[in-house]
Amino acid sequence: MSVFLVTGGAGFIGSAFVRTLLGAYPDASVINIDALTYAGSMANLEGVDERRHHFIHADICDRDAVRKEIPENCEAIFNFAAESHVDRSLDSAHKFIQTNVVGTQVLLDAAREKKVKRFIQISTDEVMGSLSENEDDLFTESSPLKPNSPYAASKAAAEMLVRAAVVSHGVDAVITRSGNNYGPRQFPEKLIPLAITNAFDDKPLPVYGDGMNIRDWIHVDDNCRAILLAYEKGRSGEIYNIGASCQKRNLDVVRFILSELNKPESLIEFVTDRPGHDRRYAIAPRKAEAELGWKPQVVWENGIRETIAWYADRSTR
Ligand SMILES: NC(=O)c1ccc[n+]([C@@H]2O[C@H](COP(=O)([O-])OP(=O)(O)OC[C@H]3O[C@@H](n4cnc5c(N)ncnc54)[C@H](O)[C@@H]3O)[C@@H](O)[C@H]2O)c1
Repeated sequence: MSVFLVTGGAGFIGSAFVRTLLGAYPDASVINIDALTYAGSMANLEGVDERRHHFIHADICDRDAVRKEIPENCEAIFNFAAESHVDRSLDSAHKFIQTNVVGTQVLLDAAREKKVKRFIQISTDEVMGSLSENEDDLFTESSPLKPNSPYAASKAAAEMLVRAAVVSHGVDAVITRSGNNYGPRQFPEKLIPLAITNAFDDKPLPVYGDGMNIRDWIHVDDNCRAILLAYEKGRSGEIYNIGASCQKRNLDVVRFILSELNKPESLIEFVTDRPGHDRRYAIAPRKAEAELGWKPQVVWENGIRETIAWYADRSTR
């Protein structure tokens, strides 16, 4: 039986990925290391086959715990574990450096020591900073690293450590960088789940600045399919940008959610902009499409309606 290690598998994307992986490899099992911070929850793993999923409550910065849990013949480590909220990184960067940078190095060292066959680092388009409003301006894998928040800087640093492990130590590693994910089980501090849950309760929906910031949205399941393909087909040392070509202004996203829920736009509350707020992200997914054979499958309108329905179901339980 093949064994995979997933870190951060009790979080939003990691828990979706555990399902994708177990679905794609019916004979495989997953060891899931998660520290269960505020963003992680065992509820996110409800319904996952317990015979093939082994949860370990541990911190990826804990060298001994990580070493102990990596099995012999581990097929791959998928590193999702991270502090992931930009606003929190502006309040204090410490945990971001610990988990996102130090934790990644701990995993790389352990992967090398235990001869893990592949290492997949889950990164973000935010490492490339902000784009102009010109629609031809797109992130590619050769865009320079220009992180603008401590969160993005910590993720860029992690990418550099992965690169160094490939070049210096021959670790077989691939990096994926996706745009903003949406879907079920996201902690309601990020734009979409916060807007949905506040709208249910008729609470104000905070929108930064003028609301004109553009994000390139991707359904979490499309991202998980891309990550799996990067594991299967990606070339070691390469980066793959993962985007569904779904650029939306934050204000339009919030308006769409309000109209789906028949709530008034008067709930929108413009708040002081976040310092260093990136204006626009937009990803050219050409390399992932050509080399991995990946294409997004979820249409935005369907994905967002299903996401709203998931939160509605939870709120009435
Ligand atoms: N959410 C997005 O839109 C997005 C976009 C691009 C990339 N990413 C990246 O994808 C990954 C997953 O993001 P997410 O949105 O699911 O994040 P999340 O905040 O929902 O989940 C992070 C998970 O990591 C766990 N964790 C945090 N610190 C840990 C530590 N020290 N040791 C072990 N576990 C720890 C948390 O408990 C949680 O379960 C992150 O690396 C993030 O940078 C996210």
